[in-house]
Amino acid sequence: MTQKISAPLCRRLEKAARAAAKKSYSPYSKFPVGAAILCGSGKIYTGCNVENASYGLCNCAERTAIFTAAAAGERTIKAVAVYTPTAAPTSPCGACRQVINEFGPTALVISVCDSAARIETTLDQLLPHAFGPANLT
Ligand code: THU
Repeated sequence: MTQKISAPLCRRLEKAARAAAKKSYSPYSKFPVGAAILCGSGKIYTGCNVENASYGLCNCAERTAIFTAAAAGERTIKAVAVYTPTAAPTSPCGACRQVINEFGPTALVISVCDSAARIETTLDQLLPHAFGPANLT
């Protein structure tokens, strides 16, 4: 079932993603990203991308936010907002789609940027026929 959230909550989530990007550690790509996730408890968790001199260890904003939420005990994701300071919105990368799937297979996924352009979709649209927990039972 696709998640729906109210317009004010959606605005809060987007604002949180924009604020999170300010904490980005991205000296190599110079591509700051902020993410905010709305969890089953109703709480919002945020994250930014955190890069590393060993480039393969860079962590995306979405996964930073999701791992923070999981470590706080959250187990469901209702919605994800991603912000990049670009003219076009950025969609979560393949690895992040897989990680979102673990806790929010039908989550709403919103991408916003510095123009009015935006993407509003769902995780199952971004990652059809996903491999997930049910495949291991
Ligand atoms: N990045 C994210 O944080 N989220 C995305 O959805 C796409 C890419 C980060 C990873 C890396 O720090 C930088 O953006 C350039 O790829």
